[in-house]
Amino acid sequence: MSDLLNLITPFPEQNSTFAESVDSLYYFIFWLSAVFFVLIIGLMVYFMMKYRRVEGQEPEKSPSHNTPLEVSWSVLPGFLVLFIFAWGFNTYVDMRTPPNDAYEINVTASMWSWQFGYPTGAVDGELHIPVGTPVKLIMQSKDVIHSLYVPAFRAKQDVVPGRYSGMWFEATKTGKFDLFCTEYCGQKHSDMITKVVVHPLNKEGVTEEVSQTFDEWMEIAMDPAEGGKKTPAEAGQKVVGMFGCLQCHSVDGSKKVGPSFKGFFGKEVDITGVGKVKMDENYIRESILEPNAKVRAGFDPKMPSFKGNMKDEWIDYVIAYIKSIQDEK
Ligand code: CUA
Repeated sequence: MSDLLNLITPFPEQNSTFAESVDSLYYFIFWLSAVFFVLIIGLMVYFMMKYRRVEGQEPEKSPSHNTPLEVSWSVLPGFLVLFIFAWGFNTYVDMRTPPNDAYEINVTASMWSWQFGYPTGAVDGELHIPVGTPVKLIMQSKDVIHSLYVPAFRAKQDVVPGRYSGMWFEATKTGKFDLFCTEYCGQKHSDMITKVVVHPLNKEGVTEEVSQTFDEWMEIAMDPAEGGKKTPAEAGQKVVGMFGCLQCHSVDGSKKVGPSFKGFFGKEVDITGVGKVKMDENYIRESILEPNAKVRAGFDPKMPSFKGNMKDEWIDYVIAYIKSIQDEK
């Protein structure tokens, strides 16, 4: 049966506690509409044929009305609509009421990346959550309206500048799922796409797709250098991914929304309204903390500040990484 339903309206797989209720309500309304469509159009066609005008036959006078019939075709659909309302309202209240013990994650949306901040201080460009645990997102935007949407969770909520908005969900199985921005937010709106990684709570749940438990992931996310196991440049590459920098900056010298990380370190670059400035450690640091202080000529001042989010040592890693990818000479 569900295969048949999927043929008609293919949905992504369900992976939250309320996904099934959302889909069931959708299918209920879908089939109710289908039944009434066939019933009404069928009767209409049937009556058109049966009571069509016939040459030489006078139509009988039609009765003025039929009270029982009219009451039933008003009251019965009324109950149906109330039933749909009660079902929808119930699910909606559930979706809008996070449990008190929910795990809280801060979400920052900006043109055009997502950033997820954890209670431990870890930050990432992908949303990592533990399976079977209620998770609450506290969301804010640095610029325009974005909207966070995880189809598999059947969860969607606008992220509005100047206020916090929230949503919650509880994933029922581990894996990787799409996370979109679903509010048109400018040129690179379609690039605001990332993943939700639902981690198992213990080693037994580890799969090929998700190879770390939530705690293991967290330990690495809190320390990109992994306690000295990684070089500063490798740690910098990790930080660049955590903060979604590569949405706007390339590492191969090509121009994206922002200038490339490659090919400019140690060289003079053109700054709008300032002139030539050498791209060195201080320039990178300033550009991360005060992106609009020195904007490269030919680019719009669109980058959000990472002040307060990117720790000093992480900035050092990023500098090391940028240095490491320059052309050797
Ligand atoms: Cu952010 Cu569309």
